[in-house]
Amino acid sequence: MAESVEFKVLVLDDADAVSRKAAKAIEEYAGERVKETGDFTIALAGGSTPKAVYSFLANRSLHGEMPWKRTRLFWGDERKVAPEHAYSNYRMVYETLLKNGPVPLENIFPIQTSAGTAEECAARYEKTLAEKITAKEDGFPVFDLIILGIGPDGHMASLFPGTPAPLELARAVTSCDPTTANPKVDPPVERISITAPVILRASNVFVLAAGESKREVLAKVFASGSIDKPPVARLLLRRKKPLSFFVDQAAFPKKMR
Ligand code: 6PG
Repeated sequence: MAESVEFKVLVLDDADAVSRKAAKAIEEYAGERVKETGDFTIALAGGSTPKAVYSFLANRSLHGEMPWKRTRLFWGDERKVAPEHAYSNYRMVYETLLKNGPVPLENIFPIQTSAGTAEECAARYEKTLAEKITAKEDGFPVFDLIILGIGPDGHMASLFPGTPAPLELARAVTSCDPTTANPKVDPPVERISITAPVILRASNVFVLAAGESKREVLAKVFASGSIDKPPVARLLLRRKKPLSFFVDQAAFPKKMR
């Protein structure tokens, strides 16, 4: 483990248990924040584990306490495709959560991808965050909670290794073409993503990872030694505020057992 950082790792039986636990934790944390500040801002992730979390959250009998009217939904990253496209993270959240109706329309802030280049979309979303999120630190928006998946290549949000995106320290939102560094990236489309400074400043971060394909990368994230080593997700260890990993047995590195 890197010495200077404290984070929680919750090891659950399987992917389903990870999603259930994370959904419960989101609901509890949202409730706390609304009590404290009257508002809850969350940045959502793409990927299969987060998708299951949103389905659970949409289930009123499981999560009747989620303060939807006070919750404002943002996206941590998006693929540069139309919102109705099968690759769209917005579409995934729409299908799993929004179409079931719990979130008021005026509380939903997707990354707009239809007009302009990926770079223009990033600049536009940076403006949206600046306007809609009043909490700021060093000029960066401060989310109450950021949900992150993690790729087997170590990317989180859409900060892909080998692109300039993980190194962006001046802006809140950036864009990248992950195929320039790895032609096998799936799907092979440009991405728009919040940056490391935003991830580091959020009040809380939940990282969700399930399945054996995540074990090797998680072992590298949790390894001792310099924080500057790859993978990209290791930059989470620079956080000075709460950070929790929700992982299943298959993803949990053997050395840490
Ligand atoms: C992307 C994906 C990606 C995803 C992670 C984790 O745009 O490439 O959204 O960032 O979130 O690869 O995905 P899983 O939860 O499906 O493993």
